[in-house]
Amino acid sequence: MSATRPSSSELDAMETASRDELSDLQLRRLRWSLQHAYDNVAPFRAKCVQAGVHPEQLRQLEDLSRFPFTSKADLRDNYPFGLFAVPRDQVSRIHASSGTTGQPTVVGYTRKDIDSWATVVARSIRAAGGRRGSMVHIAYGYGLFTGGLGAHYGAERLGCTVVPMSGGQTERQVQLIQDFRPDIIMVTPSYMLNILDEMERRGMESAACSLRVGIFGAEPWTGLMRQEIERRAGIDAVDIYGLSEVMGPGVASECVESKDGPVIWEDFFYPEIIDPFSGEVLPDGEEGELVLTSLTKEAMPVIRYRTRDLTRLLPPSSRSMRRIGKIVGRSDDMLIIRGVNVFPTQIEEVILRQPGLAPHFYLEVDKDGHLDCLAVFVEREPSGPARDDARKLAERQLQHSIKSHVGVTATVQVVEPMTIERSVGKARRVVDKRPRN
Ligand code: DLL
Repeated sequence: MSATRPSSSELDAMETASRDELSDLQLRRLRWSLQHAYDNVAPFRAKCVQAGVHPEQLRQLEDLSRFPFTSKADLRDNYPFGLFAVPRDQVSRIHASSGTTGQPTVVGYTRKDIDSWATVVARSIRAAGGRRGSMVHIAYGYGLFTGGLGAHYGAERLGCTVVPMSGGQTERQVQLIQDFRPDIIMVTPSYMLNILDEMERRGMESAACSLRVGIFGAEPWTGLMRQEIERRAGIDAVDIYGLSEVMGPGVASECVESKDGPVIWEDFFYPEIIDPFSGEVLPDGEEGELVLTSLTKEAMPVIRYRTRDLTRLLPPSSRSMRRIGKIVGRSDDMLIIRGVNVFPTQIEEVILRQPGLAPHFYLEVDKDGHLDCLAVFVEREPSGPARDDARKLAERQLQHSIKSHVGVTATVQVVEPMTIERSVGKARRVVDKRPRN
């Protein structure tokens, strides 16, 4: 597909604004957001008082670093609605994430927040090459998860024809793609692999399907996974980033003409990168934890939200706003195996480089005495190493590449096709069997 950049008249004014115009708007909005949170969210005000800061002390954007962080724990401690800044009857929508442990995190939106969200998702779809009249198949889950409804409102806003398929029912997904001939699919990259597997299982030529673009996010995925999906589906694959605490999908999204990392829609979200240990703000270009502040949200403003996502801020390229590098992983997903930091994305990359292995894998961490040990389970391709000796060779090869590229010793098991559990949304890459104490 040819990568199409929208003409300037198709873009929102802020997408091509000068840095000064953007900073002026950010400063105005940031002042409003801080004051709004201070006046209406008691736990935030208490934190500011404790830190000895007041919204009036924000003179320039950099002054934000004096304000306290917000973390997932703040959302949990104030479950369900304690961080809302407007009366409950002005909240027109609630979303929540299940969370693997403890309380779910709950977020709320006013009508205006839903409108801003639709604006940034519409921008994201346009950046991916979508236009009025494009048909968009949405296979992110609908419901409390922000993926489905977030994508839906954005696609409608852009004037697309929306197919609200949601996640699961893979055979039906494929049938509808065949029958309706959508141009764009929005889905997690791991579930896209299942859709492609199903197309191939039916004997369809997946690369000849109607899809031209895939907008993939909600979980970390590598550049090699992009190549794999693009080749098999015959599409351009772009990266969309977001999180429910800050809004949902569409906090940042990639331009199809450059595919060089998601552009942060900086007129709605102010980004900082911090050292995850000291909390110090790092200069652009350095890798650290992404911290986001909402600039327009009414129902639940978030100030300096610690995303736990590790990435860096990159200079503007296709739009006037800064980009983020591909998310390396979440600091909570980082495994420390005998002192070496390991992210599932690093293992994904090594697996994708080895012919005969499928990108379906998971990691198991356990204790061997006091030491952590790592086992990698990966499926072979249907045409991959089936005989015992060939499989053993593939296992030794992968073990060797993991040692040399990632720096850890792992045991490797190459398993039969379709034996690793498929996700319909976010893939679960790590099974932690270490005893909790
Ligand atoms: O996953 C929102 C979303 C839906 C984004 C659909 C994109 C597409 P949560 O369930 O709150 O919200 O999970 C947010 O998912 O902090 C990241 O760790 C991860 N994540 C989201 N997008 C990406 C991405 C949605 N493009 C958490 N690359 C975030 C890597 C991502 N990780």
